[in-house]
Amino acid sequence: MVPSSSPILYSLTLFVSLFFLFLFAPQILPPLRNRHRQPLISPQDELDDLRLFREATTRGGSSKISHLGTINPKPKIAFLFLTNSDLVFAPLWQRFFESSGNGDLFNVYVHVDPSTKISTPEWLVKANFVPARTTARASPTLISAARRLMANAIIDDPFNLYFALVSQHCIPLHSFNFVYTSLFGNPSSASKAFLTQRSHKSYIEILSDAPYLHNRYVARGDGSLLPEIPYDKFRVGSQFFVLAKRHALLVLKERKLWRKFKLPCLDLDSCYPEEHYFPTLLSMADPKGSSHYTLTRVNWTDSVDGHPHLYHQSEISPELIHTLRKSNSSLNYSYFFARKFSPDCLKPLMEISNDVIFRD
Ligand SMILES: *[C@@H]1O[C@H](CO)[C@@H](O)[C@H](O)[C@H]1NC(C)=O
Ligand SMILES: *[C@@H]1O[C@H](CO)[C@@H](O)[C@H](O)[C@H]1NC(C)=O
Ligand SMILES: *[C@@H]1O[C@H](CO)[C@@H](O)[C@H](O)[C@H]1NC(C)=O
Repeated sequence: MVPSSSPILYSLTLFVSLFFLFLFAPQILPPLRNRHRQPLISPQDELDDLRLFREATTRGGSSKISHLGTINPKPKIAFLFLTNSDLVFAPLWQRFFESSGNGDLFNVYVHVDPSTKISTPEWLVKANFVPARTTARASPTLISAARRLMANAIIDDPFNLYFALVSQHCIPLHSFNFVYTSLFGNPSSASKAFLTQRSHKSYIEILSDAPYLHNRYVARGDGSLLPEIPYDKFRVGSQFFVLAKRHALLVLKERKLWRKFKLPCLDLDSCYPEEHYFPTLLSMADPKGSSHYTLTRVNWTDSVDGHPHLYHQSEISPELIHTLRKSNSSLNYSYFFARKFSPDCLKPLMEISNDVIFRD
């Protein structure tokens, strides 16, 4: 009995093992799978985006102050939240927006990866959820998502003159009024901003020197960015920026560089298209129009796998906020936002929000 049942037992065991391997392998191996399957932008997505960007540049480009229909218009900041997880710092942002004392000075737009379910606190109900598509690291989808946010904001409200891109891991370091007056001057004279838009600076990091820059340049293959982007024009910068409207429009009109940056990467370890497309484009098109630094503080000390330092609950203190605000540069500017913060930071941040963060 025993010898004859043995082969059957073996086969059965083998079958069962294979079955379980088949069942659980996708959960055991997701990083490997994802690395080899970048979501590409489908021709249909590309067409939809083109239509959206064209509408934005047509409408946004022609909204003259005389068409705004208001005697004393106030410019607004469009806050663009790009996320693929829940917005855990929404309560802090809500306090930030409430600190404005005036809901007419900003708009909020959110691009949520379609695979993400997000809880909707009160201010999110007021927020505009823009039609979103899949986003993924090491792919040009993050560029598309940022452009979609800008396009929707431009179409939605001609009073949006600055576009601040943030993520779910970002927090404010100042009150709303500090951010607003830094960009537009004090609210009583801010309506001038419509007339002086041409001189508005964009706040985006633009660096010509960084470790592994050449690996990033050839991430799609040798010479793949030529002839549009010679190596000496290739730039790197933070993914998060505050763009003036004329630059947001420029980014939405742009086709030449996008045709190259949308190519899939072959070397995924050196592939961060969103950290190159915007800085390279603005540096080529209007180098004097940008600060070349970002207003979003990030701590790259001991970064792992391209991720910056993630702040935890125990690190939150008034001193940290004061330290993060200060630029380490002769330009002596103050950061507006910081990242990345883990969800457990919400509580201690809320506790110091009114006395520290929103006290400038
Ligand atoms: C930056 O991160 C490192 C750890 O990676 C930490 O020791 C340091 O205090 C952080 N710096 C600031 C200014 O928060
Ligand atoms: C500030 O910058 C200088 C030179 O760029 C650098 O040596 C120093 O470590 C920086 N300090 C901090 C706190 O980042
Ligand atoms: C930087 O600016 C702050 C506030 O505007 C000022 O108090 C400080 O003295 C300035 N520091 C330097 C080194 O210029």
